[in-house]
Amino acid sequence: MTNDLFVAARKAMANSYSPYSNFPVGAAIRTTSGVIHAGCNVENASYPEGWCAETTALAHMVASGETEIAEILVLAQKKDRVSPCGGCRQRLSEFAKADTPVHLCDSAGVVETLTMAQLLPAAFDLD
Ligand code: THU
Repeated sequence: MTNDLFVAARKAMANSYSPYSNFPVGAAIRTTSGVIHAGCNVENASYPEGWCAETTALAHMVASGETEIAEILVLAQKKDRVSPCGGCRQRLSEFAKADTPVHLCDSAGVVETLTMAQLLPAAFDLD
């Protein structure tokens, strides 16, 4: 059941600060304890200093004391089936498992679910 994740991502996306790209994104993470942490992209006049919705959601999760992702959902206002960027794949993989589901959405809901390993095969880690 991903509806609560979708609603949380959509709510965060409504607060996206994206005046430069006009490309609002929302993300939501459910942790293994069942708590949902959401985030939006936050841009900056110095363009490279902006960051992605997934990164905001991750920061909320870690700041609240959690480090285990059960599932992730990503949503963009202007693109169906938005997929996490390369940097966010690496950040998410730090707290996810190979089979952790990542739900890609359009405006109505989930259109495709991939695993973390499908999104980031041969991921770098220290093991
Ligand atoms: N963006 C995200 O927030 N998540 C993604 O997965 C892809 C891209 C943001 C970054 C930037 O603020 C805007 O979308 C356009 O690239």
